[in-house]
Amino acid sequence: MATSRLAEFQEQFARRADLTHLNNAGLAPITLAAKNKVEYWAERYYQEGFWTDADYMTDVLSARHAMADLIGCQHDEIAWFQSAAGGINQFAFGIGLQPDDEVVMWDQEYSSMLYPWKEACDQNKAFLKIVDSEENLKTPTEKYLAAFTSKTRVAAFSLVQFSSGARMDTQAVISECKKRGILVFIDIAQTLGLHPCTVWAMGADAVAGGSHKWMVSPVGVGYLAIRKELAQKMKPRNIGAYTYGTCDDPSDFACEPKRDATKFEPGSKQVLEITALGASARIIKAVGVETIEAEALRLGAKLRDGVYNKGHQLLNPFGREAISPMVNFLPGNGMSLPDMAKRLSDHKVNFALRGGGIRLSTHAFNTDKDIEKALSLL
Ligand SMILES: Cc1ncc(COP(=O)(O)O)c(C=O)c1O
Repeated sequence: MATSRLAEFQEQFARRADLTHLNNAGLAPITLAAKNKVEYWAERYYQEGFWTDADYMTDVLSARHAMADLIGCQHDEIAWFQSAAGGINQFAFGIGLQPDDEVVMWDQEYSSMLYPWKEACDQNKAFLKIVDSEENLKTPTEKYLAAFTSKTRVAAFSLVQFSSGARMDTQAVISECKKRGILVFIDIAQTLGLHPCTVWAMGADAVAGGSHKWMVSPVGVGYLAIRKELAQKMKPRNIGAYTYGTCDDPSDFACEPKRDATKFEPGSKQVLEITALGASARIIKAVGVETIEAEALRLGAKLRDGVYNKGHQLLNPFGREAISPMVNFLPGNGMSLPDMAKRLSDHKVNFALRGGGIRLSTHAFNTDKDIEKALSLL
């Protein structure tokens, strides 16, 4: 059963023999369903222009439902942005940080998380408390919790860190936040589509992420999922016609913003990218994120063991445990990092330089052949 669902997922990818995609934590190829969706809307705009109006909005709504299903929230708790940074900015600037409030964050968060929170803290005279990672980018839960004080207002962290897959015991962090009345904001860019992550059930207040990694969709969509009651209280950072209604409503300074998360979307949507993301989200849901995770982890473990057995130095914070498809390493056997990077590039195996070394990241559409090819070059 799981095998046939996995095959269904794998059939969604071009899987060209000349290109080996091992930077899926960076930019993954997109599904056939996503590609078809982009082509479908391009064709309809070309043929029909204005006459597509109602239909494209229906399809954007359907994408909202598909993402809500994966995230475990309501469709009207999702706001679209151009990238994850947009959603993070909305939340960081929107929650009304007060002087002396503290926001607690790891030093290794991705810049689209780090910079908005830094700026929001600076502008509100709040304090961004940065917790230093440990050796090999380890993020011990106790160390993070020890940074909380009576002034802590927000715990802002990635469920999975981008450099090397570091994680905390999220449930322990959230339950401490609940006890102390601390807001929980989670970057799920490296989680959604790969690991099960029903965030409201976990107790998060808001999450943000993007389209082009584990969601196997075109670059160009970010999302913020925010609990209804919080969204109602929060002012939109960007304002436009859609903050209040639609393009057909007359302007009126007395009008009130919408009450759900769509008020954070000021204007017209990036329909091709959003509906393509919706198409990939539906595939992921149908195949089952557990099936995808199991295969990505199996291939990741095979690659990690191979890298280790060839005498390279593993850098992942979780060592050889098969809990992440990210494989970070420093070349051993006298080979330099630039030489290894060049060898991989020359043979069209993609990777990223992250976490102090080379980061390879396997997805469920990769094959054992991909792993063997990469290992043969190492
Ligand atoms: C943890 C994390 N958050 C967010 C992003 C993406 O941010 P944005 O969509 O703003 O480029 C990435 C990767 O690019 C990431 O690894």
